[in-house]
Amino acid sequence: MTQQKTILRALAGETLETPPIWMMRQAGRYLPEYRATRAQAGDFLSLCYNSELAAEVTLQPIKRYGFDASILFADILLLPQALGADLWFVTGEGPRLSTITDPSGLAKLKPADAIHEHLAPVYETVRILSRELPKETTLIGFAGAPWTVATYMIAGKGTPDQGPAHALKSADRATFEGIIDILTTSTIEYLSMQIDAGAEVVKLFDSWAGSLQGDDFHNYAIKPAQKIIAALKERHPDVPVIAFPRGAGERYIGLHAATGADCIAVDDGVTAEWAAANLQTGGCTQGNLKSSHMVTGGQDLIDEVKRIKAAFANGPHIFNLGHGITPDADPENVQLMIDTLRS
Ligand code: CP3
Repeated sequence: MTQQKTILRALAGETLETPPIWMMRQAGRYLPEYRATRAQAGDFLSLCYNSELAAEVTLQPIKRYGFDASILFADILLLPQALGADLWFVTGEGPRLSTITDPSGLAKLKPADAIHEHLAPVYETVRILSRELPKETTLIGFAGAPWTVATYMIAGKGTPDQGPAHALKSADRATFEGIIDILTTSTIEYLSMQIDAGAEVVKLFDSWAGSLQGDDFHNYAIKPAQKIIAALKERHPDVPVIAFPRGAGERYIGLHAATGADCIAVDDGVTAEWAAANLQTGGCTQGNLKSSHMVTGGQDLIDEVKRIKAAFANGPHIFNLGHGITPDADPENVQLMIDTLRS
């Protein structure tokens, strides 16, 4: 079977002259059309659970820029909400959740197979997108990795150093590992359902992997990813998986083999040259332009796109940012990035 879509070709190990491109947070506040649809939906969570509007904002960056992939519009914190956590967003501050700090909090969570009713609107968004996306555009589903999602469930919010999660891990390892386990199991179910609904690739976001030290990195970043990917491969052997252990630094080495991921996404904490030499040898890479170039633009942006393209040119690669685009980005710089890459 020939793979036509460029991202699927790169994920299968093919080196392409022009790498495919998409962008983390490509549907977001830097786009006026996103802000308009979000205002129509009310708040951010209402937008996530409104399948028609969520599909509409997913399609906005595809219509404007013609990215090679679109990522389902949702959030990594919808899964803990489906498990029974309270979730709300405070404007200008970010997410808030009810906290889990002891065994009784863990015991209150629903079982992994009870998440689907709550998440049904997300699956419906995926079904709408698989009908409406241009035939050359790949649909990416996603979930947060267990450690990253656990840091929010334990602290009840985002934290600079994930202190509360590290503290629970030391004070009550059984409860901490219980949270990791239920997130691992429910993430398998969640991503499987996204695939059944039409996701062609799935991505695991471990945004806070970088704060895990020593054995903790192996036990709580690598092992859960490996379990999730192995289970997905058993059910859906043809669906590629991208893993994003942000902040892994030198520990990026060997992660294709250790996790079973088809592609490792690289943040901007390592250089493209380093990642090409030390990581791309294991399989497809994704990344890693600094998001700040989407704010500043200009010749620096052009030079960086060319440099990263050249660094990764000898192996399979998907062009992307090192992290999500920020609300203060200039939409014209996104176009400049794409034009430079494709010229
Ligand atoms: O990339 C995409 O376009 C797909 C949709 C997507 C969102 N969040 C939409 C969103 C994805 C893949 C995520 C992942 C996510 N969510 C992560 C992991 C990736 C990363 O960025 O590190 C994390 C840690 C979250 C949790 C989360 N969601 C936080 C901390 C915040 C607040 C910070 C902020 O940027 O405001 C969100 C809100 C959020 N998720 C927004 C969007 C578009 C902004 C909400 C708005 O419209 O106000």
